[in-house]
Amino acid sequence: MSKLIIEGLHRLEGEIKVQGAKNSILPILAASIICEDECVIHGCPNISDVQVTIKVLEHLGCKVSFCGGTITVNSKNISKNEIPQSLMREMRSSIIFLGALVSRKKSAKLSFPGGCELGPRPIDLHLEGLRQLGLKINEKHGFLECESLGLIGSNIALSFPSVGATENLILAAVKAKGVTVLTNAAKEPEIMDLILFLNKCGAKIKYSESGVITIEGVNKLHGTEHKIIPDRIAAVTYMACAAITSGSLVLKNVVEDNISSIIPIFEEAGCIIKMFCDNILIIDSPERPYYNRLIRTMPYPGFPTDAQAPVMAMTTIADGTSMFVENIFSNRYKHVGELLRLGADIKVEDKVAIVEGVKRLYGAEVSASDLRGAASLIVAGLGAEGITKISGLNHIDRGYENIEKNLSNVGAVIRRV
Ligand code: EPZ
Repeated sequence: MSKLIIEGLHRLEGEIKVQGAKNSILPILAASIICEDECVIHGCPNISDVQVTIKVLEHLGCKVSFCGGTITVNSKNISKNEIPQSLMREMRSSIIFLGALVSRKKSAKLSFPGGCELGPRPIDLHLEGLRQLGLKINEKHGFLECESLGLIGSNIALSFPSVGATENLILAAVKAKGVTVLTNAAKEPEIMDLILFLNKCGAKIKYSESGVITIEGVNKLHGTEHKIIPDRIAAVTYMACAAITSGSLVLKNVVEDNISSIIPIFEEAGCIIKMFCDNILIIDSPERPYYNRLIRTMPYPGFPTDAQAPVMAMTTIADGTSMFVENIFSNRYKHVGELLRLGADIKVEDKVAIVEGVKRLYGAEVSASDLRGAASLIVAGLGAEGITKISGLNHIDRGYENIEKNLSNVGAVIRRV
């Protein structure tokens, strides 16, 4: 089993190009199932979640190629409408295929998505909304058997702005008969990217600031060419790497609006952030980050839950006490136990984590149990004295493209063995 070996306390300085957004490419690849001719998608990260998604598309009968960041999908001859358990369990977000498959084939059979490291991953909001669109869903023996004679537009009020449920319902509604109105929908930039992609394929989707998404059903979707948005969480992860090593980085491919709730947190920590045209961010960090009074994770445009772990790693050596409140997932502090092994001083009580900044972290053997928790261990290892060994790299490889190469290019002493 491979590990990352990090020798900490090397100041990062240089330039990193940020990858395309994992949480944008996944729903857009699912959406390509609905398109009846070729889609060409640029700026795609080569990560294992994308590889698994491509395996699902090929299983369904799509022709897929992936070369130089560009994925070409032709879904003309989709032959199947079911996804085997083995593939569904490889990736939690594979439930996103349900809405797309039902739009294309009217019926679908797939297994419940595996729970994942963040605790049970309920899909009640997905299923409630799909039933309102007329889908007959039979849940038995861990499978979802879904039938319809074609979906009917409906007014759906989400009790929580779930990203996945919003995406699934958009994908199910694009070819439904009539109009679907989603209220209290999620507003993440990745949702906007999916809507842009679908409208370029001939869908009729409108989005209002108040979180209402209106989808007028159309008969079919054609193909298109599209470039996905940059990965805002990868950008924040590299910013935390700079901050914990008193470093300064030039990050290319960063959309300032998409991290507007995060920049103030780094400025509160004493970092100087400058944005330049054509999506360039420069971060200069102080000798030691200052503490963050209070970080609450919220649906977009609030502070994103995915940024909680990497930013927490930065605060472990801050001057002062930082406080986190994790409002989105019930089990998203699993990285804390591993940070304690590196010498951090963190207390968790339910949704709240109190981080007392310590003068120094010390290298240790740690293991990752989820994607962003893995990222937090890399951030902490870069700021720890001595050698840190990180196992559980499958989690990192799900969402970060070339992270150790990018970091060693800017001065980190990090290698995969
Ligand atoms: C998406 O997950 C992202 N994944 C997550 O990123 C991200 O953390 C999350 O949105 C929140 O921003 C992808 O886009 C592939 P949710 P998703 O539905 O759709 C509860 C990463 O690290 N809920 O907005 O699963 C749920 O349990 C990943 O890149 C229900 O109760 O998130 C959670 O507590 C991790 N019932 C909350 O809502 C439902 O039917 C938010 O979940 C659906 C969700």
